[in-house]
Amino acid sequence: MLIVTKTTCKRITAADPTTGITYKVLFELASYSGLFYYQNNASYIASDPSCPHDKFMRVNVNAKASSALVSDGKLPPSGNFPDSSLIVKEISSAQAGSLKLYAVMYKMPKASNAGSGWVWAEYKSGGSAQTAAKDKGAKCIICHNTSKQRDVVKIFDLH
Ligand code: HEC
Repeated sequence: MLIVTKTTCKRITAADPTTGITYKVLFELASYSGLFYYQNNASYIASDPSCPHDKFMRVNVNAKASSALVSDGKLPPSGNFPDSSLIVKEISSAQAGSLKLYAVMYKMPKASNAGSGWVWAEYKSGGSAQTAAKDKGAKCIICHNTSKQRDVVKIFDLH
């Protein structure tokens, strides 16, 4: 007997089935134009070679996250971000900056989809999810957990 199965490759378009922040809401927050550039630098800079993403990046934070940063633009060692802090990494393969991917962290330790205190996701520039928020950052925290002294945010020790 021949059994033919038909599979459809569907883009994730529905909200994540959790009570945590959904990837859709997270994308709206991440693509909002009123964020602040890390150290006021709007230029793309070379990513650290230990980073799994493409070669160039620029990092944005929301006002909540920005409130935890001190005069050098960094979170002090042993500091913590307040809940609802948002950090968005815009990723590009060229320094001239053609946005390819957003990598996002949203501080919400009580969310059912949080990992190490943050909700994690990656988006293509149009908003389709590359890494869904429901994954609890499984692919992300293996690296980010090595920066616990900076609330698992990596950039402060690198740039
Ligand atoms: C192999 C290790 C590694 C993995 C896996 C990883 N990251 Fe990162 N990530 C880094 C490094 C290193 C940086 C800092 C790069 C720099 O500053 O040049 C970074 C930076 C970031 C930033 C900017 C804020 C910060 O921490 O500096 C965000 C947002 C981010 N990553 C999200 C993610 C997400 C979402 C995932 C999972 C889908 C992920 N990362 C997986 C290593 C990793």
